[in-house]
Amino acid sequence: MRTIQIPGTELSVSSICLGTGGLGSSVNRDDSFALLDAYVEQGGNFLDSAKVYADWLPIERSASERTIGRWLKSRGNRHQVIIATKGAHPNLATMHIQRLSRQEIAADVQASLDHLQVDTIDLYWLHRDDPQRPAGEIIESLNEQLKAGHIRYFGCSNWQAGRIQIAQAYSAQHALQGFVADQMMWSLAAVDAGRMADQTLVVMDESLKAYHAGSGMAAVPYSSQAGGLFQKLVAGRLQHPAPFYRMDENRHRLVRAQQLASDAGLTLTQVTLGYLLSQPFPCIPIVGCHTLEQLRDSLSAAEVNLTTSQVAFLEG
Ligand SMILES: NC(=O)c1ccc[n+]([C@@H]2O[C@H](COP(=O)([O-])OP(=O)(O)OC[C@H]3O[C@@H](n4cnc5c(N)ncnc54)[C@H](OP(=O)(O)O)[C@@H]3O)[C@@H](O)[C@H]2O)c1
Repeated sequence: MRTIQIPGTELSVSSICLGTGGLGSSVNRDDSFALLDAYVEQGGNFLDSAKVYADWLPIERSASERTIGRWLKSRGNRHQVIIATKGAHPNLATMHIQRLSRQEIAADVQASLDHLQVDTIDLYWLHRDDPQRPAGEIIESLNEQLKAGHIRYFGCSNWQAGRIQIAQAYSAQHALQGFVADQMMWSLAAVDAGRMADQTLVVMDESLKAYHAGSGMAAVPYSSQAGGLFQKLVAGRLQHPAPFYRMDENRHRLVRAQQLASDAGLTLTQVTLGYLLSQPFPCIPIVGCHTLEQLRDSLSAAEVNLTTSQVAFLEG
């Protein structure tokens, strides 16, 4: 699989990242191991987890990280895989109370190291922002984790462009490491961010796009296939699309995606993921496959490169 060097790092990641939110929960242990094995066999090396996955279910805490930890141990392949995980998420019962103090970040990093059974996390994401807390203080906390060797690099998830800029300016002024990548909700599907139930999530918007284009910072979008929205539309099995997907616009986008797929000899999955893989800055979509068939289909997009005009055509 094609690899992409995350700018400013030694991390050479496969062009498609495997989202592991369902591992050890909606996907049982054996099937989780099979998915991880198949991803690596096909050249994948970049895993996305989080301490909070899937704590909304009545199962063991941090099931995703623990499943990855058990898999790494059983396969003895820690050196082959780039582990990215997230912390500093609010407690699920108090989503309005942010958790980005120095102590909370340190405790979450330590918990993730334990679950994953590793000495260091390759890329540590802040799962959320706390706009009330000075960005410089957060950067200092993360650099402490870096100096202690607990993490190698860090990124932000669900941060607005203005806050990323402030954090990056602080790290440059103080000769500290800054964010090396940014994780936001983004796919070919049009979204009405105002209709999202969780308003602490950040959807790719024009200011964030401009920030990435100007800085060259890597984007690592989640829900990159919009939960299979386009494929389900085609198969006639899209029952209750999430209310924030703008379905009028997305039906038009599907028509254009199908036309491009037919003209370019690509599949619909290759077009939808190709849209993200062909941005004017490094962009590594995270896919949330639950079956081997989905995984194979999604990974078949890894080498796709659309032209600027094809990307513009898809957006209409
Ligand atoms: N930073 C954050 O706040 C954040 C938030 C959310 C997610 N994430 C990360 O992103 C990962 C992926 O998120 P996601 O699950 O929303 O991603 P996604 O890839 O957009 O959606 C996954 C769903 O799409 C369908 N699907 C997957 N591959 C398909 C294919 N090849 N063809 C057709 N349908 C396909 C499946 O739906 P069915 O099972 O219904 O068939 C699957 O459950 C998570 O595991 C997590 O690591 C991060």
